[in-house]
Amino acid sequence: MTVALGVLASGRGSNFQAIVDAIHNGTLDAVVKVVLSNKASAPALERGRAHQIPSIFVDPKPFAESPNPREAYDVAVGQVLNEHGVEAVVLAGYMRIVTPALIRQFPWKIVNIHPSLLPSFPGLHAQRQALEWGAKVSGCSVHFVTEGVDEGPVIIQRSVPVLEDDTEESLSARILEQEHEALPRALQWLAEGRLVQDGRRVTVAPAGDLESKAPERTNRL
Ligand code: GRF
Repeated sequence: MTVALGVLASGRGSNFQAIVDAIHNGTLDAVVKVVLSNKASAPALERGRAHQIPSIFVDPKPFAESPNPREAYDVAVGQVLNEHGVEAVVLAGYMRIVTPALIRQFPWKIVNIHPSLLPSFPGLHAQRQALEWGAKVSGCSVHFVTEGVDEGPVIIQRSVPVLEDDTEESLSARILEQEHEALPRALQWLAEGRLVQDGRRVTVAPAGDLESKAPERTNRL
């Protein structure tokens, strides 16, 4: 089933591009209905326009005066996503913490890509954190978004070595290559309805097995 995606991005948008490329080459059965950013100048919006995808800047400033600015902003974001018929939301370099106001609208339908092997190195500058920690292996994680930052159940992880002469840039580039493969793959599983959640554990049902015989406590997403 083709899944209707909304992409939230604050910057470069290379993960968004990987999604578009995977759709074009037939490995991801999805359509990007809208790209939305909290930054007017985000290159991700330029990329969206280049692909004739509605690309929308939602300015956080007008919400600053509301009693709960972050929630109010997310209500507005949810409205834009709904207006465009979005079924699942991808945080692809989105530099805002999403609140329950958005999470409630898309239960088990928001995924994030993070450049570390979670639960190691959540938050900002994950690649720098890995280097400074002296980790020998790092990578990326695609996970469901829950209220805790970078805490939601992991769908897929890819690892890369941390080399002795790595800089933040060289490690980030090595991880990014893996991000560009892992994210479309996770989204394809979502599109196929193959993700099964059991507490924190997410497994991938065999292709074609839509009538899962999984135990009752599990949740077919
Ligand atoms: C990626 O490293 C992603 O894991 C992190 O932010 C970066 C976004 O890169 N959340 P891009 O905008 O997709 O190129």
